Amino acid sequence: MYRDPDPRFESLGGHPVALRPLRVGMIGIGTVGAGTFRVLARNQAEIAARAGRGIEVVAVAARNLARAAAIVGKGVALTDDPLQVATRPDVDVLVEVAGGTGPARDWVLAAIAHGKHVVTANKALLAEHGEAIFGAARQHGVAVAYEGAVAVSIPIIKALREGLTANRIEWVAGIVNGTTNFILSKMRDEGLDFDEALAQAQALGYAEADPAFDIEGIDAAHKLALLAANAFGMRVDFADVQVEGITALHRLDVACAEQLGYRIKLLAVARRRDEGVELRVQPALLPATQLLAQVNGSLNGILVHGDASGMTLYCGAGAGSEQTASAVIADLVDVARLDGTHAAQRVPHMGFHAHALQALPVLPRAAVRTRHYLRVPVHHDRCMASMGSMLADQGLVVERMEWMRDSPCPGHHLLVLTAEAPQGTVDQALHALQALAEVAGPCVQWRVEPLAG
Ligand code: HSE
Repeated sequence: MYRDPDPRFESLGGHPVALRPLRVGMIGIGTVGAGTFRVLARNQAEIAARAGRGIEVVAVAARNLARAAAIVGKGVALTDDPLQVATRPDVDVLVEVAGGTGPARDWVLAAIAHGKHVVTANKALLAEHGEAIFGAARQHGVAVAYEGAVAVSIPIIKALREGLTANRIEWVAGIVNGTTNFILSKMRDEGLDFDEALAQAQALGYAEADPAFDIEGIDAAHKLALLAANAFGMRVDFADVQVEGITALHRLDVACAEQLGYRIKLLAVARRRDEGVELRVQPALLPATQLLAQVNGSLNGILVHGDASGMTLYCGAGAGSEQTASAVIADLVDVARLDGTHAAQRVPHMGFHAHALQALPVLPRAAVRTRHYLRVPVHHDRCMASMGSMLADQGLVVERMEWMRDSPCPGHHLLVLTAEAPQGTVDQALHALQALAEVAGPCVQWRVEPLAG
């Protein structure tokens, strides 16, 4: 039998010649790490058949070694020193699923410096330190794969980097945080309080260690930064993403949106305009008939508009243990197939080759143009006409205006849908509205996103 002299090759099973297993070092064995272990063990044969070789975890770094020992079983080296796993000579690829940014950056950079590929589900790490990490990876000729970092179970990075490469991507819009989608769905469908819904999301393992990242929109913004980079070939500075979470969202507006035929979702949008790129995360009204409006619970949904493909929609679990493991293992299979390939021939980290990445200008908040929803609390119901002409004076075209029906709180609420207008114009109009004697409380505005082709 022919035996390749290359030590990476050995005889395996019924196959005459096979690559030896890919050896994995893992940092973190919480929700995602444990799920990765379970799925790797359960689907071992199928995964190996796809990868062309086995995938074996040889070392794990964990804070709680007793808990880790119960998950990993025998034959896996355990340590509480992540750096040791990142630099072990018998590790080919580091799986970083511990989360956080400071120490995780050091572990990942150490692994890269030691010539190891990296698989991570850590969106905060890549959104904030991606430039340094991908730069180091290019220098050392290793891969950094991160499908699990964005909309976990949905292969959206693969779709953007590979499936849609013929397209000029015009926009990407999505529900990319499972926790907030779960909270909004529970509040709307079951009348749960915000805190109660958040507690459930935490108990189910959907939320970040610090759930403020979810509810303040930061987690979605981290993911949007990665989506925009892959969609437009742009260098993204995370600080450029405009972020508003769901904490300022009033239950009343969820009901008003329903009355108008809309659903409110925490939407992440990256849109190319002639003047620059919009990068924003904000609760927004979607037409109830829009497919994304049907994406409920912890599901995520992403729409991509390409000039050739038209609109494509991706939907699937947006959080969860094995759901994230599915993406982490897919990345491991990709890494397992890399042996023998030259780094320059591989799929670039951000979809575009590094020399072709552009610094596209990001539009300031005031210049972002969308339709708007306004809710104006007023003292009496005889002011619709005067409000309408006042908004027209401020440069806003009103497309629809009506009273809120069945308000659970006392008073009258005027609901307004405007035509597309820059955020700056809407802010000025709201400022002027707020000063009127008829207005009985804080005026509210959210963006309306038809997401039409
Ligand atoms: N906390 C995240 C979410 C986990 O809820 O979407 C998956 O990235």
